[in-house]
Amino acid sequence: MAAKRPKIIKKDLKRVSVKPNLLNYEKTYRSFSYKKVEKELAWLGKGKLNAAHDAVDKHLNTWRKNKVALYWIGDECDKKYTFLELAQLSNQFANALVEQKIKKEDRVFLFLPRIPELYFSFLGILKTGAIAGTMFAAFGPDAIYDRLHDSGASVVITSPELKPRIDKIRKKLPDLKTVIVTGSVKVNSRKGEVLFNDMMKGQSRNFKTKEMKPKDKAYMLYTSGTTGKPKGVVHTHYDIIHQYMTSKWVLDLQEEDVYWCTADPGWVTGIAYGILGPWANGTSSVVDARRFSAEKWYDTLEKYRVTVWYTAPTAIRMMMKEGSKLAKKFDLSSLRHMCSVGEPLNPEAVYWGLNTMGLVFHDNWWQTETGGILIANYPGMAVKPGSMGKPFPGIKAAIVDEHGKIKKTGKEGNLAIKPGWPSMMIEVWKNPVKYKEYFKNGWYITGDKAKVDKDGYFWFIGRADDVINTAGHRVGPFEVESALVAHPAIAEAGVIGKPDEMFGEIIKAFVSLNKGYKPNDGLKKDIQHFMKRYHAGHAYPKEIEFRDNLPKTRSGKIMRRVLKCQELGLPVGDISTLEDD
Ligand code: PRX
Repeated sequence: MAAKRPKIIKKDLKRVSVKPNLLNYEKTYRSFSYKKVEKELAWLGKGKLNAAHDAVDKHLNTWRKNKVALYWIGDECDKKYTFLELAQLSNQFANALVEQKIKKEDRVFLFLPRIPELYFSFLGILKTGAIAGTMFAAFGPDAIYDRLHDSGASVVITSPELKPRIDKIRKKLPDLKTVIVTGSVKVNSRKGEVLFNDMMKGQSRNFKTKEMKPKDKAYMLYTSGTTGKPKGVVHTHYDIIHQYMTSKWVLDLQEEDVYWCTADPGWVTGIAYGILGPWANGTSSVVDARRFSAEKWYDTLEKYRVTVWYTAPTAIRMMMKEGSKLAKKFDLSSLRHMCSVGEPLNPEAVYWGLNTMGLVFHDNWWQTETGGILIANYPGMAVKPGSMGKPFPGIKAAIVDEHGKIKKTGKEGNLAIKPGWPSMMIEVWKNPVKYKEYFKNGWYITGDKAKVDKDGYFWFIGRADDVINTAGHRVGPFEVESALVAHPAIAEAGVIGKPDEMFGEIIKAFVSLNKGYKPNDGLKKDIQHFMKRYHAGHAYPKEIEFRDNLPKTRSGKIMRRVLKCQELGLPVGDISTLEDD
């Protein structure tokens, strides 16, 4: 599908992106120290803090107590919650969890659509000292099982629509004691099922938030690498200092802003910049829980007079596809700052923003593991379309070779960060070996290839490994392959990311079949349906190719590199001496 190319207007990008009231980036950079900024955290006594307190309750001592924290948009109605209401609802939920004997470091997982309960239960979990885990609502039973099983979660909160997927795997999860269900449906108390509303009834609106040490664990989410099942990336309460600062300086959140982060808290952006960072700044946030449509999104921007918008390239491209005519039907004059993350932002998208909204998208870069934005185009900087920007103050980023040696300006290499920034993941759940693998020769190795130009701007080249980025979602080929071979027709599977103009990449699967199965379109559809149902709605192979054999190493590992080269029509190189693992 070819996206319509917008007319490119060569304007002075620097002029439109500079706002007079913004902090001076270069000056700030020279005087920056996280130690100094620590004073801005809401400490709960000596060396103790809690990210939920910093995000919400600290505002209750200020005029923001009755300020709207959350504008929620649903299919049937809109709702709003003040900071006071969020504090009270999360306190009630924290009390309910304590009644369920939840204690520090227990894992409480959320498997919910973007309903208000998701937001105040996330905060409530943090207040008890337990670890909040999030899961995207498109996950199927297998993906949910991997996460709940590995984390040993004792509680999961879900909705009536999503609960059947948990029911399917419940028997295999002995650690899972309680399933909390929102709405009003029949639940089976003998199986530890309980209604959210019943739990909340009669709970006090006060709760003594647990005082945590900065490096105590707060939340976790699973993310994909090239090999193995998804890893549980664990973050601490101290993350909030970085999320607070980057929300202020990169997203430029100010008191009077209405801010909209379009990400789902099943992914890290929806936590760091959909919950913790903006609320720590006392910002009013919009959550639109409806299915994407360009028209609905423009309507949200107009209706809520959104001033700062944080979204993703695929969504921008989908809006571009609808054309500027649709955009012109709406009053988007409230917008003053736009940011993007998660996948490469093509220059056309930056120019489209300029043509349509009179503003450029400010691209920034980070990862689940980094817990916050590390490289960004700042509001006060000249935007170079296609570049991710410069490192955030206090962050040292570089392009290094295999031995950790910094490469010359303009040379491609591994994007690496000096470890130790406040929101760095603290562990990979139950997997110290995997955690250690990230750190080499004194650098945190991101897994991305990039280059840096003479002005210090970073340019994304691609992944250094086989990880697929489809519509901004990080997908591990191994997980998709394992799910594919569970289909009765499939003997072997190899999965790659195939470049796509709209989604960045789509998932393409090469499969060989078991005896008795014939390759045909009906089987393709059946496999896709199977993948959506059991694995994940967003991570199914859009393309499937049947092969008699798949290229393999001597030890039998499928060579995705060869499949990718063949797909792209690139020379495969010498495979006469088959690679070893
Ligand atoms: O490959 C990079 C890509 O997304 C990966 C991180 O994915 P995830 O952990 O799911 O976090 C996404 C949201 C923070 C990175 O390793 N990525 C992220 N931002 C950009 C990007 N690729 C290009 N440009 C970006 N701005």
